[in-house]
Amino acid sequence: MQSNVRPDDMVRITNSRLAQKFIDEQVAEIKTQVGDGKVLLALSGGVDSSVVAALLIKAIGKQLTCVHVNHGLLRKGEPEQVIEVFGKQLDANLIYIDATDRFLDKLAGVSDPETKRKIIGKEFIDVFAEEAHKLEGVKFLAQGTIYPDILESHGVKAHHNVGGLPEDLDFELVEPVKLLFKDEVRVVGKELGLPDNMVYRQPFPGPGLGVRCVGAITRDRLEAVRESDAILREEFDIAGLNTKVWQYFTVVPPFTSTGIKDGKRTDNWPVIIRAVNSVDATAATPEEIPYEVLFKIRDRIFKEVKGVNRVLYDISTKEPATIEYE
Ligand code: XMP
Repeated sequence: MQSNVRPDDMVRITNSRLAQKFIDEQVAEIKTQVGDGKVLLALSGGVDSSVVAALLIKAIGKQLTCVHVNHGLLRKGEPEQVIEVFGKQLDANLIYIDATDRFLDKLAGVSDPETKRKIIGKEFIDVFAEEAHKLEGVKFLAQGTIYPDILESHGVKAHHNVGGLPEDLDFELVEPVKLLFKDEVRVVGKELGLPDNMVYRQPFPGPGLGVRCVGAITRDRLEAVRESDAILREEFDIAGLNTKVWQYFTVVPPFTSTGIKDGKRTDNWPVIIRAVNSVDATAATPEEIPYEVLFKIRDRIFKEVKGVNRVLYDISTKEPATIEYE
């Protein structure tokens, strides 16, 4: 098995030729490690797990089973894309579990951010482990561990991420991208033919929209986060800001304020837009979004998102703010 230390002379994967070489080597290595054994992978649809899935499908096809757990906190269109790309286009063995109710029921009334994260993380492992127990004869677990995960947390997928290894399952790990940096994983993903919006997607927290529906999550407010986020992403694509801004999303805090509609008072939430540039998330500065883009987003949010009467733009830097709201 590969060591966990990136050799000093390892060539950085910066182009298609180097990516192809890496893919060929890993396909051979995976075949040697796995033989005719069965492999399981928690496929979130993020860059790392998607690239690992595509590599394994290339190497061992149907010996891989991908499990996509929808915790109800994914962005609009994400589960559908995983099903389309992996289930249909790449013809993978894909188990899709819609666990939305289970997660949202456990999260009901919980407002403490760390407790929310813990519930999401634990529930995720439980759902995944339940699926794993249903399958017979699986010896290997594939993981999208990348080199920064090893550097930061001694090989465990960073503390931030939901998931991780179910402790009572005795698997041998398959971690084909564990010596790569994020930019290299993207080059490999591109070479494997994954769609651009999967390969170049912005950072997205493991607990998903759960940390952007501030405080105790309710289904209606979560829907306002999801719908406003989808509008923001669409309009950033149209304005060409998607390739310029490092991370952008909407937040809906758990308070209302007075507004007016058709002559009647309303009591609705604000949507906060956050769009920041950063190199490695340790510091961040807001992007200067043209007012015409902001106004278009505002108009669409008012028209299309229920329960909202204000749209705010967050100009905070990190520090003293953080990028997310909890
Ligand atoms: P903050 O809010 O600390 O975020 O400035 C820094 C970066 O980390 C992401 N983030 C998370 N990622 N699980 C994750 O996988 C989390 O719980 C989490 N919280 C923050 C955030 O989106 C930003 O890119």
